[in-house]
Amino acid sequence: MTERILITGGAGFVGSHLADALLQRGHSVRCLDNLTEQVHGGMPPEYLSPDVELIHGDVRDPEVVRSALRGVDAIYHFAAAVGVGQSMYQIERYMDINTLGTAQLLQALLDTKTPIKKLVVASSMSIYGEGAYTCSHCGAVAPPVRTMAQLQAGQWDVFCPKCMGPLQPQSTPETKPSEVTSVYALSKRDQEELCLIYGRTYDIPVVALRFFNIYGPRQALSNPYTGVAAIFAARLLNNQAPLVFEDGQQQRDFVSVHDIVRANLLALESDDANNQVINIGSGKPITIRRVAAILAQSLGKDIAPEITGRFRAGDIRHCYADISKARELLGYEPQVSHEQGFAELAEWLESQSAEDRSEEAARELQAFGISA
Ligand code: UD1
Repeated sequence: MTERILITGGAGFVGSHLADALLQRGHSVRCLDNLTEQVHGGMPPEYLSPDVELIHGDVRDPEVVRSALRGVDAIYHFAAAVGVGQSMYQIERYMDINTLGTAQLLQALLDTKTPIKKLVVASSMSIYGEGAYTCSHCGAVAPPVRTMAQLQAGQWDVFCPKCMGPLQPQSTPETKPSEVTSVYALSKRDQEELCLIYGRTYDIPVVALRFFNIYGPRQALSNPYTGVAAIFAARLLNNQAPLVFEDGQQQRDFVSVHDIVRANLLALESDDANNQVINIGSGKPITIRRVAAILAQSLGKDIAPEITGRFRAGDIRHCYADISKARELLGYEPQVSHEQGFAELAEWLESQSAEDRSEEAARELQAFGISA
């Protein structure tokens, strides 16, 4: 059945890929996007399908949101400010856009009594803080985020909070208690919880997808706070070595935007997913060093990464997804390998003028004393 679907933040990296997939399935797609300066420079991106109905406006503007909701059958709420480091010094802006923006959307939904069949909200792995670990003596433990003193001493690994022994990282399930370590993470948790509370109260099916490290074509290079894969690839294209923080052995879960899109389509249709939080990742850990190596290989550059020993305050050591819940409730199965996905990212970046703005971000973080 053809439906009208609203994507807030639909001109962005993930939203625009989802818009393409929904259009392909015959839905009509409306995107509400403020075309934020930091990402879009106030202009609709070239990649946005002409078949998308684009409303240029802000999710915090009740009038605009009300008109965006007209005749809508389902909503993907992706509008958000997304720089973790930046959120630590633009505190008011992040809480305003992410937390209050979500509150505005829900208020407008309630006020207009728009009868939607589903609300999917983009949550984030950042709400976990450190991932799950086990200690050979103490079993499953949840270590706190590393202190500034520990990072300054170059002690990158986390230790057992009970016996101070070494820890083994494990895949992180949704049941791991949230421990937010950044303003961004706090605002993402707010988005997730606000939507779930709304859904329970007004009997609207809500699905909160906790995305891990998403990468792929259209990742915003103009945004100096974009993810590490795009930063590394941009540096390699400029014949510069990727600057690896810590020792490069930190592990993450890099998931292709195409797998993220598949999960979002499944979430729209699956009743089993209603009122649930679900991890969406590749389920496979990969070190940051390895990310740099695969990207260099994909781009045909014989450039080794520079292991800087520098760090960012609040960074976690390891976190990767346990995706068994997504498998069970959504029938989700990641299909893009790291090799395929990074090659695709590299190929796309080669066609772009890959301006490298990561040093700008690094300078700003240093100015606020939150990196070294
Ligand atoms: C964070 C958020 C995540 C968000 C993502 C993109 C947390 C725990 N997670 O992930 O929710 O989706 O940002 O906004 O807050 N690194 C380098 N060199 C660089 C840049 C980064 O070595 O030039 C390292 C970092 O130290 C980190 C890893 O790469 O260990 C990944 O960094 P990044 O891509 O920024 O994402 P996360 O911090 O994992």
